[in-house]
Amino acid sequence: MASIASRTALAGPALPLKARITPLAFQLQARSRKSNGAKRTLASSAATPQDEAPPEHDSRPKKVLTKAQKQFLDSALRVNQAGELAATLIYTSQNPPIIKAHPHLRPLMKHMYDQEAGHFKTFNGLLAKHRIRPTAMYPVWYAASSLLGWSTGVMGREAAMACTEAVETEIGDHYNSQVRELLVWKKEAKDKGETLGPELEALLVDIRRIRDEELEHLDHAVEQDAKEANPYELLTGVIRAGCRGAIWVNTLWFLAAMHP
Ligand SMILES: [Fe+2]
Ligand SMILES: [Fe+2]
Repeated sequence: MASIASRTALAGPALPLKARITPLAFQLQARSRKSNGAKRTLASSAATPQDEAPPEHDSRPKKVLTKAQKQFLDSALRVNQAGELAATLIYTSQNPPIIKAHPHLRPLMKHMYDQEAGHFKTFNGLLAKHRIRPTAMYPVWYAASSLLGWSTGVMGREAAMACTEAVETEIGDHYNSQVRELLVWKKEAKDKGETLGPELEALLVDIRRIRDEELEHLDHAVEQDAKEANPYELLTGVIRAGCRGAIWVNTLWFLAAMHP
């Protein structure tokens, strides 16, 4: 199981905030890790033999994607871009009330926002490169994400952190499913004497890094008493269902556009 320290080492320098983690936060963090054990096991199991980095000058032919695989990739990148847009909007609305009430959280909130902005930039670049049209539902995501960020921000620190915990739990699963799919493609290619190719290899690296950063946000949220939010179960249940619904709607919308 990857520790928060090891994941943070991947993501960048540790925040000063970590030095002020309370014993209660440690207990909550341990509870969260237990409840998210499946995801962490999956995350750490990613270093499988078929996942070894290819040699720099690989002479093997590059895998040719099937039509279904191309559609999966287009849909995944589009949903990822919409999700990262939503993440930046949540923090944009959530940060002012949280930082005003808890100024010591400014570095943490900025750190998480900056990482989300980086994720958004990554998927914007991939959409432009592969000529994939961004979501047509921008006004809906803008309104829903801003409302979610603002409402949990004014509810207080615990509610804001519960929002982050709920969102990152779903997004961690979402990115893990994409890593799994890419690893299946990689194994298929290897079995046929082919490679995944540099673009898909780079995408696999990007999605894993982003997933790890999302799970780092989840840990920060639990450290900051997400589980003390009231009503915790209702709040996280509604937000998690909303995330799943948004992913589902975005995927369906894309498939409908592909097959009018
Ligand atoms: Fe993100
Ligand atoms: Fe995140």
